[in-house]
Amino acid sequence: MTIKTVGVVGTGTMGSGIAQTCAQNGFSVLLYDINDTIVQKALNGITKRLQILVGKGKITEKEFKESMDRIETCTELSEMKRCDLVIEAVPEKLNLKKEVFRKLDEICSEETILVTNTSSFSVTDIASVTNMPRRVAGLHFFNPAPLMPLVEVVKGIRTSKKIVNTLNQFVLSLRKEPVTCEDTPGFIVNRIARPFYNEALKIAGERLATMEQIDRIMKKAGNFKMGPFELQDLIGIDVNFSTTESVYQGFFGEGRFRPHYLQQRMLQSGKIGRKVGEGYFRYEN
Ligand SMILES: NC(=O)c1ccc[n+]([C@@H]2O[C@H](COP(=O)([O-])OP(=O)(O)OC[C@H]3O[C@@H](n4cnc5c(N)ncnc54)[C@H](O)[C@@H]3O)[C@@H](O)[C@H]2O)c1
Repeated sequence: MTIKTVGVVGTGTMGSGIAQTCAQNGFSVLLYDINDTIVQKALNGITKRLQILVGKGKITEKEFKESMDRIETCTELSEMKRCDLVIEAVPEKLNLKKEVFRKLDEICSEETILVTNTSSFSVTDIASVTNMPRRVAGLHFFNPAPLMPLVEVVKGIRTSKKIVNTLNQFVLSLRKEPVTCEDTPGFIVNRIARPFYNEALKIAGERLATMEQIDRIMKKAGNFKMGPFELQDLIGIDVNFSTTESVYQGFFGEGRFRPHYLQQRMLQSGKIGRKVGEGYFRYEN
């Protein structure tokens, strides 16, 4: 199974980063979003990021041009029929993802592999709306996709071994590290990360230490690049909370994954992190 053309559905933070990564590694890319303005914004973002790499001497002008030439955009989902692999990166809403997969299943040929970049939903559940769940899997990239080396290859209950192998090879050809995981709540990384945030929230909630202190201790003593609170501010407290909720539900209410009220209060207040200038901390610029 040879992958030459990759379709990316949803050109936001993740979709545009994934498209850039594929183009830089020799794949033809077809970017789809719901309108021209959004698609154009994504293309401009990719152009800017690649130009920065040229400026830093990390890629040549020729590589920049070749990567850009490999990217096409569209606003008709039916164009995805040209792709060997389609990566879905629409917002984390289960019904929306299912709707996209139902359509892709009809549009694409039987040879096309369909994957979701979901952070927290069941791949098996998403695949269940298609007629060919064996060609559906998860490819969980991390943010920022062009820089983060790990990609989780998620095997749904019905995903075929052949598809999993092809996807592992595909990730290697992006010069990234694939890790195959079973379709369990939060897969590997988001599951392991839950106690990092939850325990920190409990400690702050019990007023045993301030958020600044917890972040500082985790960085100095734990050698983490970022503490749990500044990292939530970066990811978005809304995004982080919904992942926690989803993992908690996925494990049928297991206590150690229970979301914390402090995080919910932040969400209710609208202080959801850097993207709005304030989360647990304030960001002047
Ligand atoms: N942001 C992260 O840190 C991160 C990390 C890993 C995985 N993810 C997952 O990646 C997916 C995308 O997240 P994101 O942060 O890039 O979201 P985003 O909001 O930045 O981008 C989503 C894009 O999807 C488009 N869209 C909306 N409805 C659509 C439709 N019907 N068809 C096609 N496109 C549509 C939007 O216009 C937008 O461009 C989610 O499943 C998320 O859980 C996000």
